[in-house]
Amino acid sequence: MRPVLTTSTGMPVDNNQTSLTAGPDGPMLLMDTQYIDKISHFDRERIPERVVHAKGAGAHGYFEVTHDLSHVTRAKFLHGVGKRTPVFARFSTVGGELGSADTARDPRGFALKFYTEEGNYDMVGNNTPVFFIRDPNKFPDFIHTQKRNPQTHLKDADMFWDFLSLVPETLHQVTILFSNRGTPYGFRHMHGYSSHTFKFVDHNGKYSYFKWHFRTNQGVKNLTSEEAERIAGSNPDHATADLFNSIAKGDSPSWTAYVQILSEEQVAKYRFNSFDITKVWSQKVFPLQEVGKLVLNRNPENYFAEVEQAAFSPGTVVPGIEPSPDRMLQGRLFSYPDTHRHRLGPNFNQIPINVPRNAKLQNHQRDGPMAINGNGGNKPNYEPNSFGGPYQTDEVGVSYTAAPVVGAVGRHTYQLTDDDFVQPGDLYRLLSPYEKDHLIKNIVGSLKNAKKFIQERQVQHFKRADPEYGRRVEEGLKAATM
Ligand code: HEM
Repeated sequence: MRPVLTTSTGMPVDNNQTSLTAGPDGPMLLMDTQYIDKISHFDRERIPERVVHAKGAGAHGYFEVTHDLSHVTRAKFLHGVGKRTPVFARFSTVGGELGSADTARDPRGFALKFYTEEGNYDMVGNNTPVFFIRDPNKFPDFIHTQKRNPQTHLKDADMFWDFLSLVPETLHQVTILFSNRGTPYGFRHMHGYSSHTFKFVDHNGKYSYFKWHFRTNQGVKNLTSEEAERIAGSNPDHATADLFNSIAKGDSPSWTAYVQILSEEQVAKYRFNSFDITKVWSQKVFPLQEVGKLVLNRNPENYFAEVEQAAFSPGTVVPGIEPSPDRMLQGRLFSYPDTHRHRLGPNFNQIPINVPRNAKLQNHQRDGPMAINGNGGNKPNYEPNSFGGPYQTDEVGVSYTAAPVVGAVGRHTYQLTDDDFVQPGDLYRLLSPYEKDHLIKNIVGSLKNAKKFIQERQVQHFKRADPEYGRRVEEGLKAATM
């Protein structure tokens, strides 16, 4: 038997093809409640797209511990070899709109939601170990330069390179972005990084600092800029299709998860500011330690319900994992739930994909639009209470560790120093001749569209990182504009 169509209130629909009119040629009637139910819902189908990372794809899977971490963190999902935690992942480009091409030159988002027994844990990283800027106050301006010109509504090389050349702390990420790593073949073939430093806290309250690295087991595979442009024209949803189709045919992508861990003393002594997200921690000095594997083996049933409504935040942590003082991270802690309240409403954590499904949820939050989880039933909505409502816990280890803070309140700027040019220069020198050729070609292909004075300013930064790097970009620009 075929299922019977109903209105949103459950009334069977007798005719879903023809509107109710006064006579065959007459106007439609306000009493056509079935049509009004249908069209008014349609009129409201769109919600605001993510202000960044709008275009993305997601999948379900699990995380399995292969190396126990109970000696460094009390986070239970990292305890015991073989322990599995369900995960939802979303990958994305950053600057483009919901309908933009998957192969655009851009970092890729790498966001994971672990449904642990202690509540959800989100790892909201990128496919790059560093970021463009190190103070969140710069973020809205930086993003504006990656979006459209306010007058022409076009992507604008002057805006883009003007900002980058005036904020040279961006150089490390720019060097990654304009290598072929800026155009990954798809989401399965790239690594993922927390980029930020976080804190692990052990059972005795002792803390260390760490960063996540997820290394693809499919192998890194990148596109050249010509390939990326061609695919953008022929199949703009290339990465989305690649992820979905591979999982649909049982070829589950996986990543091996590692952490780099530094003690407080190592953090204090490191040559660079350890919390500066424009820098990496040397893997030679601080080797990767294997922790587990991430496997994605189930496609979403419904894109909007699961992928579009997913709400990740780097502040969604569990006992045993805490934010570090990294300023960019601190800025993000507020921004994500704030944008979720705007994009999905104040009860965004009641949307099934965001519900902490393996932890018991009980609090005093009530009401608001779309309160759909029973709203606390008849339980007390206040604390302290004498009637069986939830209470704060005195379980040891749930509160943040006490960390010393010194200094006067002020807008303490991170100074631009020669240090900002060391790692981009090191990265340039590490590239093979083939990779260098592509990096230079990709930069020239974009920078040539900016004004001459911007080109010249940017070339000086490349030179400061490595004289050959700068000279080659300079020569490339000359040849391109002759
Ligand atoms: C998405 C803000 C830096 C990774 C977003 C969104 C906002 C935002 C507002 C949209 C979220 C949504 O609508 O659900 C910021 C701010 C930053 C910052 C203010 C700096 C101060 C970063 C960095 C990374 C990152 C450094 C990576 C290390 C992501 C990812 C998403 C995202 C992966 C997409 C999450 C998803 O798939 O839903 N960011 N961001 N962001 N951001 Fe950031």
